Amino acid sequence: MTDELTPETPDEDEQPIKQRKNGLYPGVSDELAASMKTGWADTELRDLEPIEQAPNTARRREALSRRFPGERLVIPAGNLKTRSNDTEYDFRAATEYVHLTGDQTEDSVLVLEPRENGEGHDATLYRLPRSNRENGEFWLDGMGELWVGRRNSLTEAAALLGVDCADVRELAGSLREATGPVRVVRGHDAGIEAALADKVTAERDEELRVYLSEARLIKDEFEIGELQKAVDSTVRGFEDVVKVLDKAEATSERYIEGTFFLRARVEGNDVGYGSICAAGPHATTLHWVRNNGQVRSGDLLLLDAGVETNTLYTADVTRTLPINGTYTDLQRKIYDAVYEAQEAGIAAVKPGAAFRDFHDASQRVLAEKLVEWGLVEGPVDRVLELGLQRRWTLHGTGHMLGLDVHDCAVARTETYVNGTLEAGMVLTVEPGLYFQADDVTVPEEYRGIGVRIEDDILVTEDGNRNLSAALPRRSDEVEAWMARLTRQRA
Ligand code: GLY
Ligand code: MN
Ligand code: MN
Repeated sequence: MTDELTPETPDEDEQPIKQRKNGLYPGVSDELAASMKTGWADTELRDLEPIEQAPNTARRREALSRRFPGERLVIPAGNLKTRSNDTEYDFRAATEYVHLTGDQTEDSVLVLEPRENGEGHDATLYRLPRSNRENGEFWLDGMGELWVGRRNSLTEAAALLGVDCADVRELAGSLREATGPVRVVRGHDAGIEAALADKVTAERDEELRVYLSEARLIKDEFEIGELQKAVDSTVRGFEDVVKVLDKAEATSERYIEGTFFLRARVEGNDVGYGSICAAGPHATTLHWVRNNGQVRSGDLLLLDAGVETNTLYTADVTRTLPINGTYTDLQRKIYDAVYEAQEAGIAAVKPGAAFRDFHDASQRVLAEKLVEWGLVEGPVDRVLELGLQRRWTLHGTGHMLGLDVHDCAVARTETYVNGTLEAGMVLTVEPGLYFQADDVTVPEEYRGIGVRIEDDILVTEDGNRNLSAALPRRSDEVEAWMARLTRQRA
């Protein structure tokens, strides 16, 4: 950013609008101010079609209305967060807001207002309107469209999203004035929460958040389509990484992170979480996202990465690859054990099964292997009962997937972890074995090896469908796939 890109400002008392904070602020002549007010074309977009998911978001708002009759419900999208001075982190709208609107615009707030006749709610989406050109807001305000880009007008947004829209700058004041029961989704918009501070309770707000988390447990056709797109793009990203593994050896794990991110960006998307590009012993660190380590021939690369579509649905896929294209005997032994555990886990994913079943199935296989290899004393039932295998399996075997990588995270235990699988749920199955570099309870050759295999599984009416099946999993198939891709390098 340069000083030339810093907005100019008039006298402070003439302009109530928020100014960008840094830089030089020479005055604005009357002639310039007059010039900037006029000479702009009418760019209002007309005859807009609603976004594809508009009927789905409307259904979700109706269900929400039925769950909380007579109460005002406030669901913010969230605000920009400052990175330093007047630069901000990339904005990512709150999942609850996106699920109920299909929109991703910062500073917006969905409000469901109970109707006076007691029947249902009216939904209104509060958002920033087009910038005012009369008072200079559009070119002098840090949130002016000249600086941050054109926004949809309230009329355009209403047509696209299928919800009435109003100016968000009036919302905090009207919420302060309003009477009657109200709930807000916390953690996204401090200004809106402050306006409601003396009207809400943490317990009632949490009930709203829990409801919205559970409302995402079952995905509709649109969501499944988006998740499949995210997975398909992720598969291409993994292929890209394999093709450049030799180059990554000369730099660092960041070469891998950048290559995967390039695939996301090239296809107009983002990543749903920080890519875990863990080479060698870093594979034993579950959330290794520093990605600044060496990539060495002979080691494994644990790559856990997922493209997030521009509608914000994310994949979450892991492959553990031999950097030079061939597993050593010990790497293969450990990899094949994790593969067998994953096969057992995936086979347990079906409607009517307990959510825990796939975890238990995978853990049993891993415990059997650990006993067989002499790393823990059997029998297997004793190991499982005491959870001794967890020294090396470390984490749960999977989680719901959707708008969030760990979707539905605040659903109640009885509906999620202790619940039953139903068609339309999408979850990961991701067993792993991790031998820390300093674990003196295992033979030296095991130390520093970490393996995870993670796929994204849709529960169907009669079983399941592996959305990430296009990416090879069996060790010999992984090697053949890598060999084919690296031949294409030349
Ligand atoms: N990528 C995070 C996880 O697998 O849960
Ligand atoms: Mn993952
Ligand atoms: Mn995962």
